[in-house]
Amino acid sequence: MRAVTWQGPRSVSVEDVPDPTIEQPEDAIIRVTSSGLCGSDLHLYEVLGPFLDEGDVLGHEPLGIVEEVGDGVTAVAPGDRVVIPFQICCGACWMCDQGLHTQCERTQVRDQNMGAALFGYTKLYGQVPGAQAEYLRVPHANFMPTRLPPEPPDERFVYLSDVLPTAWQAYRYADVPPGGTLVVIGLGPIGEMATRIARYHGTEVVGIDQVAERNERVRGLGATTIDLEAVEDVTEAVRSLTNGRGADAVIDAVGMEADPSPAGKLAQRVGALLPDAIAAPFMERAGVDRLAALYLAIDVVRRGGTISLSGVYGGMADPLPMLTLFDKQVQMRMGQANVKRWMDELLPLVVDEDALGLESFHSHRLPLESAPDAYEMFQRKDDGAFKVLFDPGQRG
Ligand SMILES: NC(=O)c1ccc[n+]([C@@H]2O[C@H](COP(=O)([O-])OP(=O)(O)OC[C@H]3O[C@@H](n4cnc5c(N)ncnc54)[C@H](O)[C@@H]3O)[C@@H](O)[C@H]2O)c1
Ligand SMILES: [Zn+2]
Ligand SMILES: [Zn+2]
Repeated sequence: MRAVTWQGPRSVSVEDVPDPTIEQPEDAIIRVTSSGLCGSDLHLYEVLGPFLDEGDVLGHEPLGIVEEVGDGVTAVAPGDRVVIPFQICCGACWMCDQGLHTQCERTQVRDQNMGAALFGYTKLYGQVPGAQAEYLRVPHANFMPTRLPPEPPDERFVYLSDVLPTAWQAYRYADVPPGGTLVVIGLGPIGEMATRIARYHGTEVVGIDQVAERNERVRGLGATTIDLEAVEDVTEAVRSLTNGRGADAVIDAVGMEADPSPAGKLAQRVGALLPDAIAAPFMERAGVDRLAALYLAIDVVRRGGTISLSGVYGGMADPLPMLTLFDKQVQMRMGQANVKRWMDELLPLVVDEDALGLESFHSHRLPLESAPDAYEMFQRKDDGAFKVLFDPGQRG
């Protein structure tokens, strides 16, 4: 089959790889009909390179048709249309019972001391072949797939694999009080979906990004935006919108590859505690995260407010301003999204009506063969690239 493979930093190629086969009685093979390209793939594209091998198959946002099932699979049958979560989980262990599917005790990557295995996502997460491919092997197929009606089109349902539950969890973890204001930092697919969900709940949102089209999209949802490059003091701008206190809650939808914050004032406030002289060489050596978005979150959240981290972080020695966090009594929640936990809440918003406007959410639907260009375009945010969906059935 054809599959998108990692070949080195900023290098992916579409190759012939062996078709997946049933390995366990509870496996299913699905023929992928739509597969998302995600900000998380961009981390693999560049900074997480050391954790991949040449030829690793990428992708973790699949929707498709069941092609074949193992002897132990009763929940789905060939021909069923299904969406698959990005994490691999059994649905029956203690962690899965708590709704903590990203910590599944049957799939935890114990030799790396990590949580549940993920499709297409580095040695840290099990090096499992990914979903930007014609076919995908799905373990624990009595639990993993969510069955879908034959219509409407894939665009309505594909985000149930990752973007929707991630944004939903981000919003739930943010715990915005009634009448409160939510700041969303980073307005890529995750930040925008979190904004859509917040607006759906009637929550006031202030979005922050430096990409003009992304700010514009979010303004179209009734949010206020702050252009990171145009405003000198972002925190003051947020305070002026929030009775001088700051945001009740902040979602960081940027993560480890934040662009340096152009706001000089932020560096003075948060960075003063962690001078560049210490932080910069330390980051280079230890390869830790670029923390501009997290520092901004810490600065703009009000005292006693909540920070909800969706953006993926990977450093083991990130310098954090504990004085500020402790003194402001900030609450933080974070983690990969527990996809199946939120399914019952999400399905009604997606199946009966398009309550979140998903059918027009993507910017590009492309054949797999265009993956090398698509990765580059998405990283640079060229050509209005916002959300790319690969269609492995479309010949390039
Ligand atoms: N927790 C999860 O389960 C989960 C799931 C999916 C994605 N993610 C993570 O969510 C993050 C966003 O994903 P995405 O698909 O929306 O990616 P994306 O790269 O398209 O979006 C990131 C956005 O952040 C903006 N940005 C960069 N630096 C900034 C800064 N300093 N301040 C404000 N904005 C800044 C960029 O311009 C971009 O619009 C990534 O880190 C991704 O790995 C997490
Ligand atoms: Zn994703
Ligand atoms: Zn489990």
